[in-house]
Amino acid sequence: MDLSVVISLGYVLASGLFIFGLKKLGSPATARKGNMISAVGMLTAIVVALLDQGIVDFTWIAAGMVVGGAIGAIAARAIAMTSMPEMVALFNGLGGAASLLVGWAALTPDAATFTLVTIVLSILIGGVTLTGSLIAYGKLSEILGSGAVMFKGQQLVNSLIIAGVVGSAVMFCLQPTDPTWLYAVIGLSLVFGIMVVIPIGGADMPVVISLLNSYSGLAACAAGFAINNNVLIVAGSLVGASGIILTQIMCKAMNRSLSNVLFSGFASVANEATEIDGEIKPITAEDAYYILEAATNVAIIPGYGMAVAQAQHVVKELGDLLEANGAEVNFGIHPVAGRMPGHMNVLLAEADVPYDQLLEMDEINPRMELIDVAIVIGANDVVNPAAREMESSPIYGMPVINVADAQTVFVLKRSMASGFAGIENPLFYKENTRMLFGDAKETLSKLVRELSG
Ligand code: TAP
Repeated sequence: MDLSVVISLGYVLASGLFIFGLKKLGSPATARKGNMISAVGMLTAIVVALLDQGIVDFTWIAAGMVVGGAIGAIAARAIAMTSMPEMVALFNGLGGAASLLVGWAALTPDAATFTLVTIVLSILIGGVTLTGSLIAYGKLSEILGSGAVMFKGQQLVNSLIIAGVVGSAVMFCLQPTDPTWLYAVIGLSLVFGIMVVIPIGGADMPVVISLLNSYSGLAACAAGFAINNNVLIVAGSLVGASGIILTQIMCKAMNRSLSNVLFSGFASVANEATEIDGEIKPITAEDAYYILEAATNVAIIPGYGMAVAQAQHVVKELGDLLEANGAEVNFGIHPVAGRMPGHMNVLLAEADVPYDQLLEMDEINPRMELIDVAIVIGANDVVNPAAREMESSPIYGMPVINVADAQTVFVLKRSMASGFAGIENPLFYKENTRMLFGDAKETLSKLVRELSG
């Protein structure tokens, strides 16, 4: 068979594997397989792309694959589950950098206008993605402050940068041999990436990571056009589209519009002076056991603290014991619980919690009044009733899991500290709430001991 036919078929196969893998990533039950299928698709794409580019020096390719693969493998093993969003931010940034470099490298003195436009787009979007992701990484890892940075005249500065980028991009397409315009596009897009992300902070950061993921796909797509590589165009479009869909889902889960997230800054300190009625009622695991033992319907609502405490296995043990005691046990999963999409699902799957026990927020909320005990494990913002009750709250309107509607609520956390959004939680002061202070894993182990004792 002609090599060009093999190459075309290889690209079609790789694209098909990407699409099929992505489809499987849609459910926790098939996500692992989806990841494997996509990885095989990527390997196919790399091999076929190398066959396609006969001129490539394979020594460099091999060295790059070994070094890159080793860094990826070590990072994937070393990074804690709780730091995954930071890692995704870095990956997005590197994707943007790669597209910027590919676009740049595709520049030839005789490039056609269409190619020049795609080159400038891959450089522009890649540059914004690179620095934007680095800022997002800095904010998430708290190397930089995690709050929104707003200053007077910000919109004017941004407008000037946008005008500068557009002007330089047009000049570059008109005079591609003059490197000044190319450097101007690169420099301004890098600055613009910083400016796009600094006004975003607090609980809005996951949305930004997802959006930057989408940008990295668009940059790759533009680079695909620049070097005329179909599989890069397909893969880039898939990442671009899925990233924007995930961004929309997150915005919906937080009851925000994308423009509101991007331009208004998260008001994390707005309700500092809020007075909350009621008092804190701490109880011990021993006392909690008596209430749990009598419960026939229990809901477990995990959050970021379960990930920090690595309490997923003992949560599963508790669930099994409660079921053995005759109770119905379900898990209520909020779309932005934890620090990355699907965070809770991944942890609970690791502990072999059956998928049919995992109920999404919209499924568990209507049942909440029938629940005897809702056990909140290291969750805070996603169960904050201020979202329903306090119009002044920055999270007002965000859909939350309505645990306060259950007969009794146990909240497992170490202190009265706030969650990611940095706001107070009136749930802790409610009449039917009992606080079980301490590390979630230790508290759960005590409950397990009592129940199995
Ligand atoms: P948070 O509101 O961040 O609350 C987590 C709680 O866990 C804290 O109040 C903390 O209280 C407690 N905690 C920490 N370590 C603990 C331990 N070892 N044992 C027991 N408790 C522990 O978490 P959430 O309710 O899951 O909400 C997620 C937040 O993160 C939302 O604001 C969301 O927008 C944001 N976010 C989400 C994502 C995605 S996509 N999921 C990504 C980034 C950010 P103590 O310190 O008192 O223990």
